[in-house]
Amino acid sequence: MSEIKTAIVTGASSGIGYEICRMFLKENIKVYGLGRNFTNEITSDLFKPIKIDLTNINILCQKINEIKKENKNNINYLVNCAGVGYFGLHEHLNTKKIHEMTVINIEIPMILTQLLLRCLKNTNGHIINISSVTAKKSNTYGCAYGATKAALTSFSESLFDEVRKYGVKITSIHPDITKSNFYRNADFCQSEENDTFLTPCEIAKAVKFIINQRQEISVTDITIKPQKHKIQRKI
Ligand SMILES: NC(=O)c1ccc[n+]([C@@H]2O[C@H](COP(=O)([O-])OP(=O)(O)OC[C@H]3O[C@@H](n4cnc5c(N)ncnc54)[C@H](OP(=O)(O)O)[C@@H]3O)[C@@H](O)[C@H]2O)c1
Repeated sequence: MSEIKTAIVTGASSGIGYEICRMFLKENIKVYGLGRNFTNEITSDLFKPIKIDLTNINILCQKINEIKKENKNNINYLVNCAGVGYFGLHEHLNTKKIHEMTVINIEIPMILTQLLLRCLKNTNGHIINISSVTAKKSNTYGCAYGATKAALTSFSESLFDEVRKYGVKITSIHPDITKSNFYRNADFCQSEENDTFLTPCEIAKAVKFIINQRQEISVTDITIKPQKHKIQRKI
């Protein structure tokens, strides 16, 4: 019997990250899921929820070192999915929001990558960064959020060039508007029409597609959009 693979997933407690965890578990992959509020239950012996605020970087490093030890440095997947978005005119953001987006959306993925890269080299592992379509375009009312996602995509591209010779794969996924709790801080959300939004399950399916490619190729970038573009203002 082949050995069970191990994944570390941030943002595991809701939306896209939660569905990625469920997909990994269906593929018989052990998952350490990081999040603060685990209200959606996952009942599987292979699921190890880690309740953590990612802004506590010292505690995060400690946890990751424990996971590495527990798994004898055999980690196969890192999925950086946790993310925060604040939208509106840039002059209306405050320093706390800008700081939070920068830490969660780009600093933590770079730190986790640094902590886990040696393990991933050992296993010919895979890093999947959940970026956004905003990484690839101009974003009025989301300049700072889009900038953090552009940084994540840029980091992924350069990192792939650095580590491809070691057999490590790096993928950035660029979803368009996806039905989740993500827009709780915004004055808009997805429209209710089926062809105007994606679902977290569809992003998880994209992850399943890329992890099941043959070892010798690497999918570096996926962009997924609903057929039509439409958002709605919250009343
Ligand atoms: N929804 C979209 O339209 C969309 C489109 C493109 C890209 N994305 C990206 O997709 C990713 C997932 O978003 P989603 O749509 O699934 O939204 P979501 O349901 O709001 O999920 C965000 C996740 O990030 C975690 N998180 C945020 N701050 C954290 C912190 N300080 N410590 C620990 N965990 C933290 C949340 O955990 P807790 O709730 O437990 O704190 C939650 O699990 C994000 O990176 C987002 O930028 C989303």
